[in-house]
Amino acid sequence: MTNIARFEEELKHFDWSIARHELGYKEGQPLNIGWYCTDRICQTGRAKKLAMIWENHAGEVRRFTFDDMRVLTNTFAAHLRGLGVQPGDRVCVFMDRVPELYIGFLAVLKLGAIVQPLFSAFGDESLLTRLESSGAKVVLTQHKHGLKVRKIRDQLPALETSVIIDAGDRKLADGEVGFDLDNAPKVNDFESYPTTPETPSVLHYTSGTTGQPKGALHVHNSVFSQYLTASWVLDLQESDVYWCTADPGWVTGTSYGIIGPWANGTTQAILDAGFSADRWYGFIAKHKITVWYSAPTAIRLLMKEGEEAPKRHELSSLRHLASVGEPLNAEAVIWSQKVLGLPFHDTFWQTETGSIVITNMPGLPIKPGSMGKPFPGIVATVVDPKTFEPFDHPGAVGLIALRPGWPSMFRQYWNKPEIYASKFVNGWYLSGDRASIDADGYYWFVGRDDDVINTGGHLVGPFEIESALLEHPAVAESAAIGMPDPVNMEVPKAFIALKQGYEPNDDLELEIMNFCRKHLSPLAMPQAIEFVTSLPKNRSGKIMRRVLHAKEWGEEVGDISTLEDE
Ligand code: WT7
Repeated sequence: MTNIARFEEELKHFDWSIARHELGYKEGQPLNIGWYCTDRICQTGRAKKLAMIWENHAGEVRRFTFDDMRVLTNTFAAHLRGLGVQPGDRVCVFMDRVPELYIGFLAVLKLGAIVQPLFSAFGDESLLTRLESSGAKVVLTQHKHGLKVRKIRDQLPALETSVIIDAGDRKLADGEVGFDLDNAPKVNDFESYPTTPETPSVLHYTSGTTGQPKGALHVHNSVFSQYLTASWVLDLQESDVYWCTADPGWVTGTSYGIIGPWANGTTQAILDAGFSADRWYGFIAKHKITVWYSAPTAIRLLMKEGEEAPKRHELSSLRHLASVGEPLNAEAVIWSQKVLGLPFHDTFWQTETGSIVITNMPGLPIKPGSMGKPFPGIVATVVDPKTFEPFDHPGAVGLIALRPGWPSMFRQYWNKPEIYASKFVNGWYLSGDRASIDADGYYWFVGRDDDVINTGGHLVGPFEIESALLEHPAVAESAAIGMPDPVNMEVPKAFIALKQGYEPNDDLELEIMNFCRKHLSPLAMPQAIEFVTSLPKNRSGKIMRRVLHAKEWGEEVGDISTLEDE
């Protein structure tokens, strides 16, 4: 029986208070995610239950109970308090998927500080823009990633301390301290800071069309959305072993790789290793994973490996699959039904929404290729891009619009109130995506409404790529768009107009590529460069990426006269 069956009764009178009630929360009480994910689970008789089964690339396994998590987050929090971390300070976690990442994340929340997770593959420039913006006071990191922080720390006046969790006997630089969690004296009792529902919790950076990445600020109240969607959409139950393949550098890895599942008291398996089909199937078999949350790019990679690979492993433990991040094509759903005996359930949401908002909930018949329907309590629609009013007929393609008010809706872009305000029209929050709704109320994703590139489920802002390119002495103008890719759906491509005196040739292309590699994260790296004499522009001189995009995808360019006026 799925959790949703129980829900269908409750749907008739749905209210977010269901989540507050199930978590035993009473109005006016402090609300701290760190406490709800550890201490509360222990208090509800699950102290000895496994919280985390962790495995690294070498196959080494470590297990942590909820009581271990409680004590270790207390120990980490007490140490950070000793370093001067205060409520409201930003603390960045910049690590591979080691246990300290998960423990450190919750420890920061226990302190009432704001946790800023960053993907450990970021190079020093990607890191610099995001740390500059957040004004982080402390970074929790590993030796190898700490070296990147060391390189830029002179440019970060707010940064006081890098905490290196695996320093060993290495010589540390000024502003670095070592902290060995395994061997630190354990702190059994630690009073979590009495954060309220509106106290800031997590600051996740996400890319837009213009400007540098912006920090979407969440609050402790988000736990109610994350708890309930984890329970009803991912269908997490007491005996499950759940695997979320996302890295906590991205919102899936925190909302559904930390907060949602642990607030439910779910056992999570974590794989800190790169992708290979055999490794992934082997991981499912070894730990008897029952619920699996992944992404279309990973599913396409598995599909590419063929149908023999899954047969080499015992995968019968799986009982529920879900996907997020990009359009889940119908073939992927049909493939998984055939090969794994289960369909992937699509879930649509964003860094900004904090939790799943449109989805194929268990119990709802899946229409392969559709994202499903709004989660209970989410008021969603598709609005006409001209009037911002909902369409009155099914099938019309417009903008996905959500009525703010669910618990995990972001509260601000860090220090960017104008950009935040620009996302709201007629009382709707606009996600920046286009879709249609069919006569049965199912949502069909069409594409992004802006120029953001979604590569393998990761958003990359064209501006970031273009800014890096413009730093090269030969580049006069540039435009970055997504080009089709069989696995990642799209990958960045750069169009470049050269300065006078430079000739397009292979050597220059290679030189620009190498230049980019130093400035951009691997995700944002252009996979192709096309030299052009000029770029299409509107009358005010703005580059029209949409024209390049349409040509690249063999689509109609559309009415350029209107674009020219933009
Ligand atoms: C954007 C948000 C939320 C977790 C990971 C991404 C796209 C997300 C789907 C889906 C089609 C999807 C949208 C959205 N997206 N889920 N099921 N079908 N597109 O978070 O980095 O903030 O990206 O990812 O374009 O706006 P994010």
